[in-house]
Amino acid sequence: MDDSEIILLLVSSILSLFFIFIFFRRKQRRYNLPPGNMGWPFIGETIGYLRPYSATTIGEFMENHVSRYGKIYKSNLFGEPTIVSTDAGLNRFILQNEGKLFECSYPRSIGGILGKWSMLVLVGDMHRDMRTISLNFLSHARLRTHLLREVERHTLFVLNSWKDNSVFSAQDEAKKFTFNLMAKHIMSMDPGKLETEQLKKEYVTFMKGVVSAPINLPGSAYRKALKSRSTILIHIERKMKERIIIMKEGRDDMEQDDLLGWVLKHSTLSTEQILDLILSLLFAGHETSSVSIALSIYFLQSCPEAIQQLQEEHLEITRAKKKSGEIELKWEDYKKMEFTQCVISETLRLGNVVRFLHRKALKDVQYKGYDIPCGWKVLPVISAVHLDPSLFEHPQHFNPWRWQQTSHGPSSSSSCPSMNTNNQFMPFGGGPRLCTGSELAKLEMAVFIHHLVLNFHWELAEPDQAYAFPFVDFRKGLPIRVQRQSLI
Ligand code: HEM
Repeated sequence: MDDSEIILLLVSSILSLFFIFIFFRRKQRRYNLPPGNMGWPFIGETIGYLRPYSATTIGEFMENHVSRYGKIYKSNLFGEPTIVSTDAGLNRFILQNEGKLFECSYPRSIGGILGKWSMLVLVGDMHRDMRTISLNFLSHARLRTHLLREVERHTLFVLNSWKDNSVFSAQDEAKKFTFNLMAKHIMSMDPGKLETEQLKKEYVTFMKGVVSAPINLPGSAYRKALKSRSTILIHIERKMKERIIIMKEGRDDMEQDDLLGWVLKHSTLSTEQILDLILSLLFAGHETSSVSIALSIYFLQSCPEAIQQLQEEHLEITRAKKKSGEIELKWEDYKKMEFTQCVISETLRLGNVVRFLHRKALKDVQYKGYDIPCGWKVLPVISAVHLDPSLFEHPQHFNPWRWQQTSHGPSSSSSCPSMNTNNQFMPFGGGPRLCTGSELAKLEMAVFIHHLVLNFHWELAEPDQAYAFPFVDFRKGLPIRVQRQSLI
């Protein structure tokens, strides 16, 4: 191709993009769209929207937009015309109408890295089938009979390695705990073993790419993550082949009551589908809960009253167990952790591990007099609802007592009269795509907190803060200094 042809091609591409842009602008005028700013052609307002900000706020971009345009506004994000919703009612409406009026629609780069069969990107019947597998695997019965014991074992594995008066990254420790737990639960991989450590190492590179800009160029985090994805899949496939041999030889009566064994025995999924399912569960079940645990460590160190109340609750449970000669936590003990549940809810409300979800409109939809055109991207921003001062009094304040129930509903000492916790609080999403691991995540947090408050005193070794990139992360990894204590 000579120079003049290249110039001609460039000019014609720019002109066609320009006309597509004009066409969309014209089309928008037929709708009664919410107010907003479509920003620059093509990139729209994406850069401002994704600019990092403190995780306990909604960020400057969102604050400015909500105060200028209201709780529902239009924008151009991730290369698409978008309706952003910080309205609790619309968010619920969007999530409950999954598959009817709206559909899950994550950016293509997420599918590229998690795989096309990942539950996060699948829709329709295939999503339903994968979801059923995940629900069976994380069922209430399995939590009681199987997972509680494993969660406690993995908590102690991590906490017992903490030396008195040492300083380390609490975020890394939380990641170690949730990764070990998921690797065991999904593929029966034991903590500390070479193959588990190798997989964990690859996974760190993989995660860096998931949270980076999807630029597939040599040396970029995204390119490295795609490479790690291939290596991780090789590990998983090797485990899968080993398991098939064990099953063929009739030796699968061992402890391998894991996800891998289950899908091989009970599903008709292809190898590619199993690999993506396992990778996406490892991702969904590991990142979110580890950040939530790190956030609870962070919020609690600034709230000694909450630590004291937790210690009282957990001491009571432990004393009762001692009397009956029990050591391991039982389901009945977990059910007694009422104030702990308030701490967990408050951590999830204020920390907002998942800040917004990606959806698109399947039809033209009307809501509160506004049109949401078919094909537009729709972002329900759950964090903005959790930090809305009209719904949660002093929303930036860590106040676990706001979740305490009285016979009249949420505690009157701290909550707003209008607060309906079930409707406004959606840290695990909602509707047909509600997080399948929500109960496991709460169990992990509760058991970790149980052993933490009974055995350690901790403080920040240096100032740190959680940021939303939009994935929530501590800039310095949350360095803490711990002192061992034994209250039991
Ligand atoms: C505190 C920890 C967690 C938080 C805040 C969280 C949050 C969420 C949210 C908001 C969604 C909905 C995504 C959407 O609608 O687009 C989701 C989906 C999902 N989560 Fe979690 N999650 C957590 C822990 C876990 C754990 C421990 C697991 C598994 C072991 C898990 C597995 C999943 C799966 C498989 C989905 C996809 C569900 C579907 O599409 O049907 N999550 N999670």
